[in-house]
Amino acid sequence: MKKPASATDPLWYKDAIIYELHVRAFADSNGDGIGDFPGLLARLDYLQDLGVTCIWLLPFFPSPLRDDGYDISNYVDVHPSYGTLNDFKSFLDAAHQRNMQVMIELVINHTSDQHPWFKAARVAPPGSAAREMYVWSTTDQLYKDARIIFTDSEKSNWTWDETAKAYYWHRFFSHQPDLNFDNPAVIEEVLKAMRFWLDMGVDALRLDAIPYLVERDGTSCENLPETHAVIRTIRAAIDADYANRLVLAEANQWPADVRHYFGDGDECHMVFHFPLMPRIYMALRQEDRLPITDIMAQTPAIPDNCQWGLFLRNHDELTLEMVTADERDYMYIAYSTNPRMRVNVGIRRRLAPLLDNNRRRIELLNSLLLSFPGTPILYYGDEIGMGDNIFLGDRNGIRTPMQWNSDRNAGFSKCDPAQLYLPIVMDPIYGYQAINVEAQLSDQSSLLHWTRNMIALRKLFQVFGRGTLSFLNPANRKILAYLRDLKRGDGSHETVLCVANLSRFAQPVSLDLADHSGTEPVEMLGYVPFPTITEASYVLSLAPYSFLWLELQPPSVKPA
Ligand code: GLC
Ligand code: CA
Repeated sequence: MKKPASATDPLWYKDAIIYELHVRAFADSNGDGIGDFPGLLARLDYLQDLGVTCIWLLPFFPSPLRDDGYDISNYVDVHPSYGTLNDFKSFLDAAHQRNMQVMIELVINHTSDQHPWFKAARVAPPGSAAREMYVWSTTDQLYKDARIIFTDSEKSNWTWDETAKAYYWHRFFSHQPDLNFDNPAVIEEVLKAMRFWLDMGVDALRLDAIPYLVERDGTSCENLPETHAVIRTIRAAIDADYANRLVLAEANQWPADVRHYFGDGDECHMVFHFPLMPRIYMALRQEDRLPITDIMAQTPAIPDNCQWGLFLRNHDELTLEMVTADERDYMYIAYSTNPRMRVNVGIRRRLAPLLDNNRRRIELLNSLLLSFPGTPILYYGDEIGMGDNIFLGDRNGIRTPMQWNSDRNAGFSKCDPAQLYLPIVMDPIYGYQAINVEAQLSDQSSLLHWTRNMIALRKLFQVFGRGTLSFLNPANRKILAYLRDLKRGDGSHETVLCVANLSRFAQPVSLDLADHSGTEPVEMLGYVPFPTITEASYVLSLAPYSFLWLELQPPSVKPA
């Protein structure tokens, strides 16, 4: 008997709206300046009201927190700052009662150097079972072709350990030794940790940093067949014992390599569309649809049970690793004038500041996020247009406390402001007095209301999560126009035409919609009928940065 999850449709993730948050950043219930599970539980109504259907929690496990919890020292417990295992279970149950799914992190490429496995490995004799949990070498000349990811802080993927008298391998910070996936005992431990959470009822797992599991000399040590074999083992274990779960891959790679993380539908159900993300920003700044249509043309088809995960921003820098050198230079100049806005190979800013706090640009990009093929993932705070603090270290500037109201500490915590895990954003534009949930709830024209309406609208049309995509090719390249189409069970079609103006000026466009001649477009936000489509070109004019979603309805049967 497979253990059920909270969702009943095995393809639930295709219709999901995912909301990414860090427990410590959301709401503090006990006044210690750190968000926690009881705090999050108390804010579930807010998330339900927003309309999101799946909550993705950043790592909340015991950890020295030198990489915000991606440095795990115990896979099967909760960091005491965030509460207890029972607090987690109460949160999980409460989310399920609201028909929300919960996704957690499975960070298996590496552990913290404070994990008991690593502490034991360092003192264990070379070749022993304890030592072999990690990747050791007597030389740092092995695997020379693997790039360095955290270029700001690391000079090598090897670090010398005085106690072990050997180098250990790490793709990220030197305090995050990589586990040794050539050792079957490692895979057994990973499966054990995974089962612990799936047995509890967790619906989904994000596989962090998954391309780097196995290393082989003479290769980039990324995307290796041996790594894919590990992923298939994980997936098979899930399929054998659990129903309706989701595995999401974090693989920041080129489109052709990213595709392999779906396997033949036997690896990950969902994979982040890393290649698309920076090109959305590029298209906007260049006022040209080409970066988007180009990357979508290079995006391979995926198995039926699979889905892309779409995002505009997340808890990391906006990564520019998977663009050409020219594109990277362009992005840096366009989106990070101040060098403090950069970290590693990317830009550490939130959505609103990236878009100069321009409401129309924010809406435009969200309209793409919500209408492109895949499942949209929102980053906490972006629904109210929160800002960032580029003067904080690493990626902390985009991980500041959620701004709930204009009370002390933005309503996030009752603590002494000096005690907060990170300071609240306080500048005059994005500060909590100006940008907060309470104010936006009472303002019908706020970004929060707009986002909520858009989410509700999207949920009415399954075509967005499940339909096909085809681009139109109008002469005006400042216009991005595409059709989404889904054949329903009864043979009828759900068809939506999306038209987006990437320009800061009004634009005309003439669309060839002859294939849909006779259909009647209805603007979906206002339910406004538009002129019937004919064999002739369909001419529209769009205000700066505006977009239209038109449902193409079959010709109406007029009553006699
Ligand atoms: C992933 C996470 C990132 C973390 C890294 C190392 O890329 O998204 O936040 O620092 O893995 O664990
Ligand atoms: Ca707390």
